[in-house]
Amino acid sequence: MLPLVKTSIPCRDILMPKLEEVLYSGYVAQGEAVEEFERKFEEYIGGGHCLSLNSGTAALHIALILAGVKEGDEVISTALTAEPTNVAIKMVGAKIRWADVDYDTGNISVASIEKSINQKTKAIIVVDYAGIPVDVKTIQELSNKYKIPVIEDAAHALGAKFNGKKTGNHFPFTVYSFQAIKHLTTIDGGALQILDSELYERGKIIRWFGLDKKLTRLDNNITFQGYKYHMNNVNATVGLIQLQNIENLVQKYIDNGRYLDENLKDVKGVELIKYYEGTEPSYWLYTLKVDNRDEFIKMMSGNGIMASELHKRNDLHDFLNDFPAELPNLDLFYSKMVHLPCGWWVTKEDLDKMIYLIKQGW
Ligand SMILES: Cc1ncc(COP(=O)(O)O)c(C=O)c1O
Repeated sequence: MLPLVKTSIPCRDILMPKLEEVLYSGYVAQGEAVEEFERKFEEYIGGGHCLSLNSGTAALHIALILAGVKEGDEVISTALTAEPTNVAIKMVGAKIRWADVDYDTGNISVASIEKSINQKTKAIIVVDYAGIPVDVKTIQELSNKYKIPVIEDAAHALGAKFNGKKTGNHFPFTVYSFQAIKHLTTIDGGALQILDSELYERGKIIRWFGLDKKLTRLDNNITFQGYKYHMNNVNATVGLIQLQNIENLVQKYIDNGRYLDENLKDVKGVELIKYYEGTEPSYWLYTLKVDNRDEFIKMMSGNGIMASELHKRNDLHDFLNDFPAELPNLDLFYSKMVHLPCGWWVTKEDLDKMIYLIKQGW
């Protein structure tokens, strides 16, 4: 079966000597490799300050703290995402206020965000779902109008772009995940790209128990809550090797996604995503809308191709459904949405087979 997601590990000859070196170096904790990974990741993104972490969830948590979200506040978010996006809101004791999605993309609707804003709204989380960038320009305008900070959850969207610049340059906080099946994996890990240098410095302290690494342990004085969220040298070493090939790897997803976009146009029973102006997806998954979705999934899996909706709507989790809301666009989008594999492991033959099968009908 052609899988929907797959882990990409660098080849043994390149990875193993470096891993062995770091494992027996006597220093596996947060050290030089972490520092180097952060600077190289900033170079890759092309801006901001990179706080490397042990997960994307930690990045979401720190972003919410730095955005000033506290117990009893509200955060506007989307239900079409992986659970960590919204579980993190609960970690700071805030409540989740759902915004609907745009039917054309499945991403959070700016009009719906605006309707959900109230006195308690302290932040907005937007998710580049499946690698499809959000409506960056309109969200920036809304954020400026209401002075509410935006956290971009780009866990699915490494290398996606808006106006030619990669995600990580458009909002005060951008979250990345380096978990097993993401574009770039460090086995587990994450990063928070922060535009403001003072917040970045504070973020470093939050990720390390509230301690300032620039001072000795004895000179430190903890004045606020911190966590153990740092990356270590072993994961950073894997990350550094992954970064050497990341442009090529992400480009494979993009080339495959574009090929499917091109060849599935005007096919009966299929609706393609209409990307926002100026945005370029990085196609972590290929997303499309189909009639008779369950039959479509059965037909594809009967032919050896995994197709799935992958994520459960987050408003169906009682713990996350603080304010049950009518989400008509999400209802319709989700009833038709399906993902197809389009990552580095998918060959031209696989793509042609999928296109052929879809054109045949289901
Ligand atoms: C959209 C989204 N946000 C956040 C996360 C959290 O990342 P991690 O698993 O690295 O904590 C994930 C990954 O599972 C995700 O898919």
